[in-house]
Amino acid sequence: MCGIVGYVGREAAIPFLLEGLRRLEYRGYDSAGIATCGPEGLTIDRTVGKLVNLAAKLGESPSDATIGLGHTRWATHGAPVVANAHPHVGGDGEVVLVHNGVIENHVQLKQELAAAGYDFRSATDSEVVAHLIAEGLKRASEAEGADANAPYLDAVRWALSRLRGTYGLAILFRDRPDLLIAARFGSPLVVGVGKGEYFLASDASPLAGRTDRIVYLADHQLATLTPSGFTVHHREQGRISPQIERVKLDELIPSLEGFDHYMLKEIHEQPEAIRNAMRGRLDDQDATAIFGGLNLTPQQLRSVDRIILTGCGTSWHAALVGEYLIEELARIPVEVEYASELRYRNPPIGHNTLVFGITQSGETADTLAAVCETKRKGHRTLAICNVVGSSIAQAADGGIYLHAGQEIGVASTKAFTSHCCVLAMLGLYFGRTRDLSFEAGQQTIEALRSLPMWVQQALQCESRVRAVAQRFADATNFLYLGRRYNFPTALEGALKLKEISYIHAEGYPAAEMKHGPIALVDRHTPSVFLVPRGITYDKVMANMEEVKARGGPIIAIAGHDDPQVEALADEVIQVPEVPEFLQPIVSVVPLQLLAYHVALIRGCDVDRPRNLAKSVTVE
Ligand code: M6R
Repeated sequence: MCGIVGYVGREAAIPFLLEGLRRLEYRGYDSAGIATCGPEGLTIDRTVGKLVNLAAKLGESPSDATIGLGHTRWATHGAPVVANAHPHVGGDGEVVLVHNGVIENHVQLKQELAAAGYDFRSATDSEVVAHLIAEGLKRASEAEGADANAPYLDAVRWALSRLRGTYGLAILFRDRPDLLIAARFGSPLVVGVGKGEYFLASDASPLAGRTDRIVYLADHQLATLTPSGFTVHHREQGRISPQIERVKLDELIPSLEGFDHYMLKEIHEQPEAIRNAMRGRLDDQDATAIFGGLNLTPQQLRSVDRIILTGCGTSWHAALVGEYLIEELARIPVEVEYASELRYRNPPIGHNTLVFGITQSGETADTLAAVCETKRKGHRTLAICNVVGSSIAQAADGGIYLHAGQEIGVASTKAFTSHCCVLAMLGLYFGRTRDLSFEAGQQTIEALRSLPMWVQQALQCESRVRAVAQRFADATNFLYLGRRYNFPTALEGALKLKEISYIHAEGYPAAEMKHGPIALVDRHTPSVFLVPRGITYDKVMANMEEVKARGGPIIAIAGHDDPQVEALADEVIQVPEVPEFLQPIVSVVPLQLLAYHVALIRGCDVDRPRNLAKSVTVE
């Protein structure tokens, strides 16, 4: 899951390439590199670590070449060192490319190419593609033709036919300093169409401010870009006419708007994000929700007898909240499955089962594969997704967009609460075609309408959270405990803390603690309890007593004015008490803030934590 950019035109390529990579850095930041092609031939610059290092290197001797490509890497094969950074060179330097994806048969190909005399300089799987294209060029150059691009396109096609795995590729040729070729299978690529200039990128964000005319390449498609035009080809079926879409991109230009980090900004954007998720979707007349994009007939809707929710990471946690919500509001059995497991599990799925891929980015490889696999078997497969036009949004039969706005921080925050909100509306929607009464529908709508205000109130706990973070930032282990709807909240709190502060944290249903995790409790291990008043309140209080008895520090996320909790906990963070089905959306706010402030105190890079990337586009 790396970021790719490319440029062909009349202006210097490097400013676009660098700015484009900056916008794609969420896809990986282990190393970065740029290749340009000018009168002096191919020039490659690569550095380890974040993009600033590459920008500093290029600043020393800026090039005015008008064609180039760039890459920001999240390491899969080979350590994050310069030798493994992209671009990679093929043959004796006649080909240079960047790659996103995984080449599964790289070991066999490497042996074969090494035996044919190709030198390998990296431990990556990507380098085999560069050499294969060089080999393809040798074969293609024997056939002369009228189209000057044809031998290059044929060489790439031949190389692709040898690959097993996924790729988004951008390729330059030493002998054609006006030609950039792109190819896609499983890793997204878009072409931006400008005036006398063409852009290439892993998603549309680098194109904001440069063009609003976009071609989303589909799997098996290739594109040739030159200053005088571009063509799109299907790998086997030849040239096709591209569909140019006009896309509003200006909102994709990221800005911190006065916040210190994107994560903090996105935490504070949650009331607005939730408002946007609900806009136009609550129907008072029928006390239900409205979704335009589900593409289900009323008959299909009523015959649904099982739902599978699938996703990864935070989206999987939101799916768990969805399980409680849909089962309670609609009485439809729900199963939640990690997408990485669902794709290989082959469960029996009935005719009336709906499968929902839950994803912020719409690009997560495992979720995409699970969605495609269930669709292939003929099941109705939908997406709940934030990024419009993303691969999963396109692959699904229909779906619901979150409209949460761009989420840049690697730690997902507003997408979690927006997903939970959409899943609550989905529960209402299905519920109203079944047992949920008009009055219960009205009450659900009323509660949903108050949600942005409650989340706003929850945000007021920040100074309190900062003090708690200060007290516990040195801990090396945390437990997060909650029950029912707040069990997934506990999982999410623990994930937030570990991913950005690198502190080990585990989330459990509070009652499970005594079946093992309680062995971890000591005076250095804080336990974060989610204990708003509700049907399991007394039980969770009893679990808090058990931790207290063993000397474990307790941080309680509780309702206002709760003397019982005050008496037991070392620290209390108050949140509004809301109907239980919406409690995770409110209770997760202090957990997001706790992770943020602990990470800050520990000097971690909050928006770009180590070893991670925003979008996991490899398996
Ligand atoms: O884009 P997706 O929602 O499909 O991403 C799924 C996970 O990779 C993502 O939620 C990840 O767990 C986040 N880093 C969590 O903060």
